[in-house]
This record gives sequence, structure tokens and C-alpha cells, in this order.
Amino acid sequence: MANESIGKTILVAALLCIVCSILVSTAAVKLKPLQEINKALFKKNNILKAAGLLEEGKDVEELFKNIEVKYVDIDTGDFNETINSKAYNVKAALARPGLSVAISPEADIANIKRRVKTAEVYLVKVDGKLKTIILPVYGKGLWSTMYAFLALESDGNTIKGFSFYDHGETPGLGGEIDNPSWQKQFQDKLVYDEDWNVMINVLKGKVNRDKPEAIHQADGLSGATLTTTGVKNMMRYWLGKDGFKKFLQNVRKQDQGA
Ligand SMILES: Cc1cc2nc3c(=O)[nH]c(=O)nc-3n(C[C@H](O)[C@H](O)[C@H](O)COP(=O)(O)O)c2cc1C
Repeated sequence: MANESIGKTILVAALLCIVCSILVSTAAVKLKPLQEINKALFKKNNILKAAGLLEEGKDVEELFKNIEVKYVDIDTGDFNETINSKAYNVKAALARPGLSVAISPEADIANIKRRVKTAEVYLVKVDGKLKTIILPVYGKGLWSTMYAFLALESDGNTIKGFSFYDHGETPGLGGEIDNPSWQKQFQDKLVYDEDWNVMINVLKGKVNRDKPEAIHQADGLSGATLTTTGVKNMMRYWLGKDGFKKFLQNVRKQDQGA
């Protein structure tokens, strides 16, 4: 076959395609376990960050030994001790009716459609005494579902940290939810009032710090009111009666009784 023939050109192009696709798929398969490890590490990193336990230069796996992973039945607010942490997978649970429930449109303020029946939560204990509870929370922003960890003190009310780890909001606008100084303003805010009504609020604009309700409020992001509203709604959903409220009430009872 002559070098310039159509047949040879097609053959070389076809061979090149086959070789490249083999290389790409081999790389994808080979790198998958590494990607999974990195994803798990990134999650741990963010749990530690929310809890205020992340230390520059320290090994994340080592620091994560301070965190106890537990499972909570959202309906009863009790721990479920039967779950195997290795088998637990939120995405798979959300796709299975036995492991997750549909949220009615009236209740679905976070716009997430379904929620798991059993949630993975994280506890920090010092000398056996509970110090921090870290909750996974998520809800719809403008463009994407935003995922975060919300860390509360053992009263189940005072925010210790708030850290977003996955979203698709616009950098510089809604993407400012990643800004550490914006996240920091949530510290020490109270999510409930004395009667366990969910009070946390993210305002359009700035908080008036002279008003007593400022203890429940955070500044919104300018030019990103829709993302900000999504953050407020996801917090309210997950702290509400369909979210972790019962669990947090149980935790406080146990903490005060201990
Ligand atoms: C390209 C583009 C990207 C935007 N991204 C976001 C975003 O990530 N989050 C958001 O709330 N608003 C975003 N907006 C703005 C919204 O459309 C809307 O104007 C804004 O949320 C209103 O906020 P404001 O009342 O604080 O101005 C974007 C607008 C444009 C044109």
C-alpha cells in the first residue's frame, strides 16, 4: 500500500485511536483507587477543618484519629450501631428507597428531593467527653448542590465551624462560600432559640450587630443572593425537624446528664 493512499491514512488514524483509547482507559482504571483515596482524604480534611482541628503540616489520617464516625437514624435521632462504615455510601443510599426517603415539596426547603434515613456524623471527644458534633449538610444553590460540614459544640447549638467542600457556584460570586473569612463569621452563632426553633439566618446584606437577633445571623454574599439563600435553606432544613434536630436534642440531654 502506498504511503499516500487513503487506505493507509485511515489505517494509521484507526491504530492511533485504538492505542490512545487503550492508554486513556488503562490510566483511568489504574488511577481510580488513587482518586478514591484522595477523595476520602479530602473529605477527612474538610471534617477536620469544620471542627477546627486541621493543623498545617500534620498528617490528616493521624489527626482524623481524634474523630469518631457514627451513624444516626434521622427519624429517631438515635445512634444506629449496626451500620458497617466500610459499606456506607450516601450516593447509593439515596438511590435506594429502603435506605432513603422522598422529601415532600413543602418540606424540601433545601431542594434536595431525597434524604438518607441514616446519616454519617462525626464526633470529637476529649477524655471521653463530647466536644464537637460535625454534621454533613447539603442543599441547592443557584447552579449546583452545595455540600458542607457544619460543626456544633456539645450543646448542639453553638456553631464551631462551617466548611464547604463541593459545589458548582460561580467563582467570585456564589463561589465565595469557600472564602474562609465568610465561613468564619458563622463561628459562635446560635442555630436555635431556647425552644429549639431554628433561628439561623443568612441575610441579604450585613448583620446589624447591635440587635439581639445578630447572634443567629450571618452576612450574605453581595451579588450572590441566590447562593446565600440556598445556604440559609440548607442549614434550616438539616437543623429542622426533618433533619438533625431530634439527634441534637438527644445529644444535649445526654451531655447535660453526663
Ligand atoms: C454569569 C453569572 C453568574 C452568576 N453566578 C451566581 C452565583 O453563583 N450565585 C448567585 O447567587 N448569583 C449569581 N449570579 C447572579 C444572579 O443571577 C443574581 O443576580 C444574584 O443572585 C442576585 O444577587 P444580589 O441581589 O446580591 O445582587 C450570577 C450572574 C451571572 C450573570
